[in-house]
Amino acid sequence: MKQVGIGVIGLGLMGSLFAQLAVQFPDAKLIGVADIDADRTLKMREQLGIPTFTDYTELLSQADLDAVVIATPDAFHRAPAIAAAQAGKHILLEKPLATTSADAQAIVESCQLAGVTLMVGHILRFDPHYGEAYRAVRNGKVGEIVHLTARRTTSTADAERLAGRVSISFYLGSHSVDAIQWIAGSPIIEVTSTSVRKQMARFNTDDTVMSLLRFENGAIGMLENSWIRPNGAASRRIGSSLLLMGTKGAVQIETNTAGVVVYQPNTSEPITPPYSFDKTVFGQISGVYRDEFAHFLDCVRTGNSPIVSPQQALSTVLVCEAIERSVAEGVKCAVEQPKTPGLFA
Ligand SMILES: NC(=O)c1ccc[n+]([C@@H]2O[C@H](COP(=O)([O-])OP(=O)(O)OC[C@H]3O[C@@H](n4cnc5c(N)ncnc54)[C@H](O)[C@@H]3O)[C@@H](O)[C@H]2O)c1
Repeated sequence: MKQVGIGVIGLGLMGSLFAQLAVQFPDAKLIGVADIDADRTLKMREQLGIPTFTDYTELLSQADLDAVVIATPDAFHRAPAIAAAQAGKHILLEKPLATTSADAQAIVESCQLAGVTLMVGHILRFDPHYGEAYRAVRNGKVGEIVHLTARRTTSTADAERLAGRVSISFYLGSHSVDAIQWIAGSPIIEVTSTSVRKQMARFNTDDTVMSLLRFENGAIGMLENSWIRPNGAASRRIGSSLLLMGTKGAVQIETNTAGVVVYQPNTSEPITPPYSFDKTVFGQISGVYRDEFAHFLDCVRTGNSPIVSPQQALSTVLVCEAIERSVAEGVKCAVEQPKTPGLFA
């Protein structure tokens, strides 16, 4: 079987992880990596012995390059993604697709025009907790969804690293928005959001954003995103939970403690999914990022559609944008969702 030639653009936290993953898969070959920071490329060349570039267009012109992972900062996805599409390369693009709907539309359109696979790295699709909740809903254990509450928090270390360059709604919120639209099987059509700014005021950014949501299927939801959890206050940096109530049952996820519990009248079914985010076992990265990368490789090889469709990733951007608009204007905002039939069905 021909190996899939992989390049990585952006060698920070996520890009360096994907570069290491690409050398770990026998059916992938890391062709090279690119970052505007020459020190980062040098470090990667020393570590992995591969060609490195400070201009990603040089990486895109390398022979045998089939696909790229793009892990540049959230607001800088558009240029490398469009360049990669125009060069005919398949793309695994870190979440969110973009931080404006204009950038998001432009990326989706370029990939469609070029006929390349575009997969956005909405990692909760590969987190077994969220997979169990999705299955409980699809298997009818919850019935018709009535309401849900989703929380995602991270520590001030993340806020201090990122505040000023991305908002909390796009950085953290995009994870939850993708997960709840996917699990509910229905797009969010209306948001009412508010925020508070105390600890992170020095970065001119919000500490916490709360939103009330209305889904197309009539369910309502509450979304909490915050990056002021004290550093070291929990075993994992990210705290994530979901409570989903329906006409027949309920599902609860608490990633740091209880795992997943499916409730039905007079029964409760606790599930402890196998779980790791980026654990290294015998020198091999395991867990959700490995599974995400394996799915992308499979889509590139087979031509199958990725589990996260470009229109779904665009939808998440539209919801996050509406949340920011609602915070700024203090009003309820409608979300103009893509007209794709059965968007999350
Ligand atoms: N899926 C997840 O769980 C997860 C977790 C963290 C971050 N992310 C996402 O991953 C993306 C990257 O985040 P990060 O924390 O790795 O960022 P980072 O700041 O650690 O790294 C970004 C890298 O991109 C480089 N870069 C910037 N502009 C470039 C350009 N034009 N060409 C080449 N390189 C360029 C920077 O020099 C830097 O090395 C973001 O979209 C973020 O939201 C996803």
